[in-house]
Amino acid sequence: MKTYQSAELRSMFLKFFQDHGHAVISSASVIPENDPTVLFTTAGMHPLVPYLMGAKHPAGHRLTDVQKCVRTGDIEDVGDFSHLTFFEMLGNWSLGDYFKKEMIPWSWEFLTSEKYLGLPKDKLAFSVFAGDDDCPRDDESAQLWRDCGVSDDHIFFLPKENNWWGPAGVTGPCGPDTEMFIITDKEPCGPDCSPACSCGRYLEIWNDVFMQYNKKADGTFEPLAQKNVDTGMGLERTICVLNGKKSVYETDLFANILGKIAELSGKTYGSDAETTKAFRIIGDHMRTSTFIMGDDRGVSPSNVDQGYVLRRLIRRAVRYGMDIGMPDGFTGEIAKVIIDQYQTVYPELKRNQHFVVEQLALEETRFAKTLKQGNKEFEKLIAKVENQQIDGESAFHLYDTFGFPVEMTQELAKEKGLTVDMNGFHECFKKHQATSQAGAEQRFKGGLADHSAQTARLHTATHLLHAALRHVLGDEVAQKGSNITAERLRFDFSFGRKMTKEEIAEAEKLVNEYIAAAADITCEEMTVPEAKAAGAIGLFESKYGEQVKVYTMGSYSKEICGGPHAHNTGDLKSFKILKEESSSAGVRRIKAVIGATIDDE
Ligand code: SER
Repeated sequence: MKTYQSAELRSMFLKFFQDHGHAVISSASVIPENDPTVLFTTAGMHPLVPYLMGAKHPAGHRLTDVQKCVRTGDIEDVGDFSHLTFFEMLGNWSLGDYFKKEMIPWSWEFLTSEKYLGLPKDKLAFSVFAGDDDCPRDDESAQLWRDCGVSDDHIFFLPKENNWWGPAGVTGPCGPDTEMFIITDKEPCGPDCSPACSCGRYLEIWNDVFMQYNKKADGTFEPLAQKNVDTGMGLERTICVLNGKKSVYETDLFANILGKIAELSGKTYGSDAETTKAFRIIGDHMRTSTFIMGDDRGVSPSNVDQGYVLRRLIRRAVRYGMDIGMPDGFTGEIAKVIIDQYQTVYPELKRNQHFVVEQLALEETRFAKTLKQGNKEFEKLIAKVENQQIDGESAFHLYDTFGFPVEMTQELAKEKGLTVDMNGFHECFKKHQATSQAGAEQRFKGGLADHSAQTARLHTATHLLHAALRHVLGDEVAQKGSNITAERLRFDFSFGRKMTKEEIAEAEKLVNEYIAAAADITCEEMTVPEAKAAGAIGLFESKYGEQVKVYTMGSYSKEICGGPHAHNTGDLKSFKILKEESSSAGVRRIKAVIGATIDDE
């Protein structure tokens, strides 16, 4: 049987689409910029939403990439054979360029040609959209598969539940898809066995989405101005299925990581169910944590937002590490293996290695300290528990005082046959005005950031603020994060100390001067070296020499950025800093508002 390596699949995929006129673009950050509605990038299409909606992408109408993705909704399920919180998604896009009649034969060629995956044709099955009131039955795709030589009994018409993708949040681009499956040796589970059932006969390896609708907030679908293609192939999963492995953890992507866990713990993966589960949880959570911190927008563990998810991942890995006898400080050792393995594909990991290892050591120490006390507290607590349930107040106390993520309390409780009163916990949480998991989880359910004129103006304000801060505090100031809601902007930047009152006033005054100057805002496309030479600041994360957008705001600001922005600095009307505070070690946070409001749209 042919074996497939992950590195080979990555490069084969990109090369195939490059040969079909696609520009290879770098993975975007796992931490979305200016998007308050999701914590992490969850799919290859996510950073491309504005372009699927019609904005012009600097690299053209045909793109391909390997995107770093984080999905932490199923964190509790990690430990079984398939769940992962981090994965890589191979994808290609048509931004209003080609459509079904190009994409389907290409998919067929990539799957079956000996030059590429070389899969046996009779081992492949396809699903297409069955049609409903929102969108007609996709006979065209079915016919295109037939034209490739697929027989009717290998084509399945399935409803929206199975054959529709998106939007990523509540609103945004979406459409019917056609999915591609490997048929395994498992017998059909019954007369209705199809790719829609979970019996394991059909394993999905690729998804071609025909993105031609925008789902609106009222739940209706309107046709998009352009017809797009968005495809996604999960690297880990596909490598697993192609090699006939039972688990994603048994692919080459995890070999070194699990090997290191074995070396450090003296235990063997697969020796028993508990050990296997611990290896998987440690492997997965460390990989995700390393990618979150090793990103150029990397964050450190904290009690809010991405930092909280990160804290949960690290602490859960440490807890399972203790169960299998991992030595103190093991997280940094595993991270180094992960960075070595991935650095050629994601060079930012190596650049940020020092930060990753340092943060892991700090978090491990912090956790060890609180864990001892917290465990004692937990034992006391369960001794007096009533109705098999830990009350919300106590769970909150563990969280607030001992740094126990509530999910960890839930897991510990479960091990003792108890539950946690989560409603009670959330009530206490709200009472204490803490912003974290509650809000964070809500956001996973939210829609993607809107692209209204008001968000564009607030986004423009962050560029002006960034420029003003560099003017007042010096060039050590660099953006670490940005988050925009309809009401305010929030800007995180590297700086070692609290700003003085005078410095805050000066930065605010400068931004107001930039606004009063009513300078035009222009956008140019160039390569990253050209942008650097032009004096632009921003993330230089491109690897492939692709074109990027550079926004210039009068003589004040020049930044690499995807946009969109206001047309003139005067559109902001005025600017006010509400708060300057610490975000994490070495990072300050400013919240600010502008004079323009949604009503000005
Ligand atoms: N957005 C689709 C997915 O996540 C295809 O890229 O599967």
